[in-house]
Amino acid sequence: MTLRTANADDLDAIMALERASFPTDAWSEAMMREELASRHGRYLVLEEAGRLIGYGGIRAVQGGTDADIQTIALVEDARGRGRGRGLLRSLLTEAGERGAREVFLEVRADKPIPQALYVSEGFVEIARRPNYYQPDGVDAIVMRLDLRGWLAEHSGMDVVGSASEIRSESASENPDAPTPAESPTLDRVPTAVSEAGACT
Ligand SMILES: CC(C)(COP(=O)(O)OP(=O)(O)OC[C@H]1O[C@@H](n2cnc3c(N)ncnc32)[C@H](O)[C@@H]1OP(=O)(O)O)[C@@H](O)C(=O)NCCC(=O)NCCS
Repeated sequence: MTLRTANADDLDAIMALERASFPTDAWSEAMMREELASRHGRYLVLEEAGRLIGYGGIRAVQGGTDADIQTIALVEDARGRGRGRGLLRSLLTEAGERGAREVFLEVRADKPIPQALYVSEGFVEIARRPNYYQPDGVDAIVMRLDLRGWLAEHSGMDVVGSASEIRSESASENPDAPTPAESPTLDRVPTAVSEAGACT
């Protein structure tokens, strides 16, 4: 199993998994393409035997102090074996490397499995957004993680793939990515993504 940075060539496989995982509120291909290309985000994919089995993404603007888990999903036959937790931890590690101090996400109120995962990593519910997910009319639970506390607790942890491997990939694949010393102008978040909310 390998973990690497997602790129535009992964779009078709990611969209297939997106549609299978979120049948009523999948992001559009255009939204996902923008997400993969954004310099303020980072998407990772998990592969096994040449097959994409999972993906997840964060939005974390360099120079900002917070990040969002945008989405995370595994193919059905890969779930329930710790890979989702590993992927989430890799995303949190990446958010920390970008300088985030807290991480937010939204999760459907009718999805106990991801909720349990997030709570077990230290996320706490801070709000509810009634009828947020349409057309289903399901509430969103808004969660927050104290990332500095999480990083202190998990320093030296073995996530899926090594952080140094991910970092070097990041630098070589995206030489234009902002460095912590830069103070980037905030790109407009794709409106549709913003309205759809993070982590369906
Ligand atoms: C959410 C998701 C990414 C979790 O990945 P996963 O590999 O299945 O989860 P893991 O095996 O790493 O388990 C992590 C925790 O999730 C919970 N969990 C996983 N499978 C579960 C199940 N069948 N029943 C109840 N809880 C479960 C447990 O709390 C588990 O921790 P534990 O093993 O210490 O008990 C995956 O289930 C998925 O892709 N779901 C569909 C897409 C989705 O809903 N994404 C979330 C968007 S917010």
